[in-house]
Amino acid sequence: MFDRHTFCTKSTLSSADMDLSNMRKKYKGDEECFEENQLTSLDPIKQFGNWFDEATNCPEIGEANAMCIATATKDGRPSARMVLLKGYNNEGFRFFSNYESRKGIELESNPYASLVFYWEPLNRQIRIEGNVEKIPYQASCDYFHSRPKSSQIGAVVSRQSTVVPDRDYLRQKNAELLEKYKDTEVPMPDYWGGYIVKPFLIEFWQGQTNRLHDRIVFTKLKPSEELGEFRHMAEGDWVYQRLSP
Ligand SMILES: Cc1cc2nc3c(=O)[nH]c(=O)nc-3n(C[C@H](O)[C@H](O)[C@H](O)COP(=O)(O)O)c2cc1C
Repeated sequence: MFDRHTFCTKSTLSSADMDLSNMRKKYKGDEECFEENQLTSLDPIKQFGNWFDEATNCPEIGEANAMCIATATKDGRPSARMVLLKGYNNEGFRFFSNYESRKGIELESNPYASLVFYWEPLNRQIRIEGNVEKIPYQASCDYFHSRPKSSQIGAVVSRQSTVVPDRDYLRQKNAELLEKYKDTEVPMPDYWGGYIVKPFLIEFWQGQTNRLHDRIVFTKLKPSEELGEFRHMAEGDWVYQRLSP
């Protein structure tokens, strides 16, 4: 039988191939690891809050609330992009977007999303998975009108993810709307609003230089499910366990 290990020698790469195999950063030492007794709360939303506050207070992190959100079509083709987290509570994580954008269309037919925060100076990642719902109309309206007028106009100008002829097209539309609404409130378009990701999984990851990264994952225990050997009760219907890196 073919033994792949016998043939696994270093090959020479062609000049067109960018070899990044030596790009490697130092993470934390073992003495700074993240152990279960360092969880500030067994409520993963509160634990999220603790790490989020540390990221917000870290001067090297410019936008702690920037997160990657992955959605997928009904038949499972994924797409991902950055958005800004605009609030969170026990219910879930809120962001705003265009309901007719690519993500909006994907969420319409497949209302699940995965969020990822990566705070590089802290060597921390948080992964969240959940089902997604639109937030109430009034809550979207309140946020829409709290934004600077130029951002409100921008949301009206942009039929997000549709093709436009060129930048001038957007410039002109923007100027027309600035004039139209110069003395009045900008009405929130019905294709714009907020979403909430209601989590059923939250994973806290901290990178260690020796690659023994810490991964503590909270999930919701289903009514008939057994706890199992390495799973521990947390707050509410949450349980947590450690995963191999
Ligand atoms: C840091 C950052 C923050 C962003 N925040 C948002 C946001 O809050 N809402 C949004 O709709 N798009 C935001 N965008 C733009 C999206 O990444 C994306 O281009 C847009 O939503 C269209 O995505 P879609 O075609 O997959 O729907 C942001 C981009 C970056 C880089």
